[in-house]
Amino acid sequence: MERALKPTLDATWVLAANGYDPLREGNLESRFAISNGFLGIRGSRATTRGARWVVPPRTYVAGLFDTPGAEGTTPGLIPAADWLRVRILLPGGPLVHHPGDVSSHGMTLDLRRGALFSEFGQLKSPDVGMRLRTARLVSLNERSVGLQLIHLEIEEGEVEVTLEASFEGLDLGLVPERLEQDLGVWRTLRSGKSLAMATAAFLQVDGHDLPPTPLGQLKCSWSWKSRPGQIVCFERSVAVVRSDAQSLDPGGGARDKIYVARQLGWRGVLAEHEAAWTSRWQCSEVKVDGDAFAQKALRFAIYHLNSAANPDDEHVSIGARALTGDDYRGHVFWDTEIFLLPFYILSWPEAARALLMYRFHTLDAARTKAAGMGWQGALYAWESADTGIETTPEHAIGPDRQIIDILCGKQEQHISADIAYAVWQYWQATGDDAFLRDAGAEILLETGRFWSSRARPEADGRHHIRGVIGPDEYHEHIDDNAFTNVMARWNIRRALDVATLLRGRWPKLWTSLSSRLALDDSELEQWRKVAETMATGFDPKTGLFEQFAGFFTLEEIDLAAYAGRSVPMDVVLGRERTRQSQVIKQADVVALLGLLPEEFGGENAAKNFLYYESRCDHGSSLSPAMHGMVAARLGYSDAALRYFRQTAAIDLADTHAAIDGGVHIAALGGIWLMAVFGFAGVSLQNDSVAVDPKLPANWRSLGFRLQWRGRHLKISIDQTEQRLEATLEAGEPMTLVVSNEPQELCRGQALRVDIGK
Ligand code: BGC
Repeated sequence: MERALKPTLDATWVLAANGYDPLREGNLESRFAISNGFLGIRGSRATTRGARWVVPPRTYVAGLFDTPGAEGTTPGLIPAADWLRVRILLPGGPLVHHPGDVSSHGMTLDLRRGALFSEFGQLKSPDVGMRLRTARLVSLNERSVGLQLIHLEIEEGEVEVTLEASFEGLDLGLVPERLEQDLGVWRTLRSGKSLAMATAAFLQVDGHDLPPTPLGQLKCSWSWKSRPGQIVCFERSVAVVRSDAQSLDPGGGARDKIYVARQLGWRGVLAEHEAAWTSRWQCSEVKVDGDAFAQKALRFAIYHLNSAANPDDEHVSIGARALTGDDYRGHVFWDTEIFLLPFYILSWPEAARALLMYRFHTLDAARTKAAGMGWQGALYAWESADTGIETTPEHAIGPDRQIIDILCGKQEQHISADIAYAVWQYWQATGDDAFLRDAGAEILLETGRFWSSRARPEADGRHHIRGVIGPDEYHEHIDDNAFTNVMARWNIRRALDVATLLRGRWPKLWTSLSSRLALDDSELEQWRKVAETMATGFDPKTGLFEQFAGFFTLEEIDLAAYAGRSVPMDVVLGRERTRQSQVIKQADVVALLGLLPEEFGGENAAKNFLYYESRCDHGSSLSPAMHGMVAARLGYSDAALRYFRQTAAIDLADTHAAIDGGVHIAALGGIWLMAVFGFAGVSLQNDSVAVDPKLPANWRSLGFRLQWRGRHLKISIDQTEQRLEATLEAGEPMTLVVSNEPQELCRGQALRVDIGK
């Protein structure tokens, strides 16, 4: 076991932390979290119960939402019991890790193997001295299974030792139904779900099995007499099953899964898990040569991205902190479709499909929301949990401790177009017609229909969308937000495209779908009119989009004068003054430029970028990444690299405690976006993939793999040699557009293109 507990040696594949610092512990627990898209475990310590926990240990289960407080409170992810609890009992009392004693304590997150290791050198009590190594993982191969391994080496002391293994937080938020020796079954208070956790644990002393003492309720212990040189190996596995209907008892399923895991043994579970990670890295690794920090940032981001998704569950999506922390209660935002989906679409299409199917399964809730507000079609929840019902809290406590209204649940409506955008992008990239027929088309039509009813004709002959919030949430209740309106127009046009496509290619399907949706030609005609006359805020004289009606007249504030501030501008200026100013929270017109560059002809892309960049305070973690991607495409490589580093620092820098509540998974998706869509300049064309590399000066090379319509491509950009090399590793010949020149790519023939100026 000792060998298995040694993390990868190559320092570029691990994150390491030594010692114990209570102020940084919360950050570390988020950053060192392990997950497989179904289970997520914060990187908290299993054996230490030091003086203070910044955040209590957490095991999250995707989709396990409930409203545990008073009725009417906001639903959130409910933590399951912590199954990693271990205590070592000695004659003088339990071995306690005081923060001051743990200078030799190290934790290593192995990004390559998807496991968390820790090592405690020389744990001493008056009775005994020992060394301890631990490992934990949640299997990427069998997502219901978690594994904990502990290797104990006694260095001195001959005393009676007891190792006690238990679950903690048995009633942390779930209602216990049955708590047995090796099985727990809980139910949620209100949402009608249940959860089962089955467990099996074994302990060997010097290679001999020791019988456990069962203590009931998921607890047992082993006792033995220690002696110097003794080796103790402890292994525990857990199998977790969620049931979305309380009539279905998940207990039997959990028992079956634990049985299979036991048959495999910990070595088998570990081997299958590692093989699954190897294959994920094979598909998704991005290699940078010449910038060690960028390489680390990419590995860290891709580790969390691969950890966050589950291709086998269409009923969950990825919350704003994935399964790594409590912030935002597991709620799903536009973050998923805009910042994460591109990674999954191009490197893990099965996961992308499941994430979009979650939106399909919540389409009814979106229809209900639209109808409730007096519109047609589907308006998705700004914050979504398991059912798709709006879960944005209506109030929050502001930075000045005042209670403020949150209007996003009602007004931040661009989410519907963002989802449509991701549906189209997925279908374009994968050619998954079955998805389009079964789910995607209906999403496109219903969101297109929403916008067509939402935009109202006015005296100027244009259609206007009034009373919204754009991505820049500092400005509420605004009219004609350029991002919203142009994305809405795009959404309506794709809805019309899909109607034409269905009618032509699958006429029977079109007949049944259009009749089910009560969609006739006159309505389609009306959509066309709305799209043609949509107000966009574009000013042909300046080439600028006005972010929303009246934005240009607001107070200009020189953000450079506030450089060095450590809080967002709405805290510096107050909410009201910020609202009356041109200070924006995050990429808004710049985000439009990121998503629909074709709307910005000629010089307009650079003009809009420079105009809005100088007004943005990046009050959202999503913002620098969107700016970085756009800056990279525009060839502002230095600025782009600055944004890349700024984004990487959000979760990797250890200087502030901002990530206690979980990693910023959208920003991590943004790291991938900046590398692949930004510096490599990848874009999806109608019938090809394009690459237009503009690497930062210090990146000698950039390499990655992509999947496109059943093909597997490998692309390496060598800046030193000014050469791009592309290989088609699987699939039919295709066109790759390199720096605007179409090139044919066939299997077995590496394509080399000179990209020198
Ligand atoms: C941002 C939103 C984002 C949300 C969750 C907010 O602060 O303004 O754009 O969706 O956080 O990440």
